[in-house]
Amino acid sequence: MVLTDDPQWFKHAIFYEVLIRGFHDSDDNGTGDLRGLLDKLDYLQWLGIDCLWLLPFFASPLRDGGYDIADFSAVLPEYGTVDDLAALVEAAHARGMRVIADLVMNHTSDQHEWFQESRQPGSAKRDWYVWSDDNERYSDARIIFIDTETSNWTWDPVAAQYYWHRFFSHQPDLNYDNPEVQEAMLDVVRFWLDLGLDGYRMDALPYLFEREGTNCENLPETHEYIRRVRKVVDDEFPNRVLLAEANQWPDDVVDYFGAGDECHMAFHFPVMPRMFMAVRREEAMPIVEILEATPQIPDNCQWGIFLRNHDELTLEMVTDEERDYMYTEYAADPRMVSNVGIRRRLAPLLDNNRSIIELFHALLFSLPGSPVMYYGDEIGMGDNIYLGDRDGVRTPMQWSIDRNAGFSRAEFAELYLPPIMDQVYSYQALNVEAQQRSPNSTLHWVRELIHMRKRHPVFGMGAFEALRPANNRVLAFLRESEDDTVLVVANMAGSAQYVELDLSRFAGRYPIEMLGNTYFPRIGDLPYLLTMGPHGFYWFQISALIDATQTSER
Ligand code: NOJ
Repeated sequence: MVLTDDPQWFKHAIFYEVLIRGFHDSDDNGTGDLRGLLDKLDYLQWLGIDCLWLLPFFASPLRDGGYDIADFSAVLPEYGTVDDLAALVEAAHARGMRVIADLVMNHTSDQHEWFQESRQPGSAKRDWYVWSDDNERYSDARIIFIDTETSNWTWDPVAAQYYWHRFFSHQPDLNYDNPEVQEAMLDVVRFWLDLGLDGYRMDALPYLFEREGTNCENLPETHEYIRRVRKVVDDEFPNRVLLAEANQWPDDVVDYFGAGDECHMAFHFPVMPRMFMAVRREEAMPIVEILEATPQIPDNCQWGIFLRNHDELTLEMVTDEERDYMYTEYAADPRMVSNVGIRRRLAPLLDNNRSIIELFHALLFSLPGSPVMYYGDEIGMGDNIYLGDRDGVRTPMQWSIDRNAGFSRAEFAELYLPPIMDQVYSYQALNVEAQQRSPNSTLHWVRELIHMRKRHPVFGMGAFEALRPANNRVLAFLRESEDDTVLVVANMAGSAQYVELDLSRFAGRYPIEMLGNTYFPRIGDLPYLLTMGPHGFYWFQISALIDATQTSER
């Protein structure tokens, strides 16, 4: 299979986020690697994945999961080599899959040679980072990692100055006011795209520049630089994608699309916690409200939507009241809280309730945007809140009942983290092999939904319209394109519900339930009545106009 020459591929792609460290270990040293991931590409192809997103694989002391980069053009030796990366990309392409990777532009590790040079007295690179004689500047910028950091400035005894960092103190921010830094990072952009990568997830984009009197986020200078990056990509690398990680309110995130000349995609951060709120409150409104408050985006752009990822379930983009509600409902144990969020995986968050896990995937694959899945969620993997920082959601992929979950043949003590072994989510009970053999498993179910979605590009490209039925426990919306219309109806409540929908503009047509290909009664001018089981959902394709007599025996 070869890749299609399609500049809009990301609009109908299913993305899958892989922690290389935790996916599969090919050389038995207890750490996942690029060759190990390559061995598992057939599985990902079978699942229906169109694009892998690789978490950072660069040389790094791994004090922030690899987001602390010590060399932008080297692969961490435990993960393999640059050639292994090239081989992975080639093998993925041969299967019709694309590969994007994290690009961490905002900061480096303090071990990066740029920083080591910069801190030396009289260094020509001093200006590559943001230094100050005092720690008072930019005081309106919030601290992001509130669990570990008390200031965005840290004193460096070698430089005899403070340096600026928005994240951990071992991650100094690059100084984008320096044209040399701007050029150096454009070279990094080119380096991996030259090797065949299909794009980047642009880490921590809002923080590139600093300006006194602002909160140092989303500054015009930052957008101007992103436009430069985009121009390089457009001019030199066709069919690539830039996906913005900007954990901001919808009004600010849309700026990262620019006029279609910044990022092709951006994560929709605010919609995700509202899905969790909606199901606990048993009402559709939190989801409807945030989608209706989401501005239109340029035609050549797309949202990235997700249920969970490698970080805590961030609660930065909710109100104080909503945040309290989320902590009360989803973080009963204080160990579950991390910074401004909840460090748990999808299945434990949803009390391992199969119907809600199905409902959430039905929303992930039908709400506007391209879905970004997190490794392991397709089998309902658990977490380990006793591990530090966000490691609890980064445990080894559970492949089988074999030693170390089939992840690695190393000694247990050598593993980068222990696999999940608790009563409910242990790899002996919950793994890919067992679920592949069980036709009724979460894995098969998720896969079926993925393949159904892929047969209907309207999910990726179509317009969105919320229907707002009188029964506010039911979320109902249309996805429409010129040649396809899908109606999604989802019961957010844990009890049976009925809903009446105004579908009169489709009078004379039939809703066809897509998973069973079942024709439901013909739509007329009166409200259309549906009954729904607890947390039930329907995906209906609205048929073309059909003469009623032709379908009478259906
Ligand atoms: C965002 C990443 O998702 C997170 O894992 C990391 O800690 C921060 N950026 C800082 O690099």
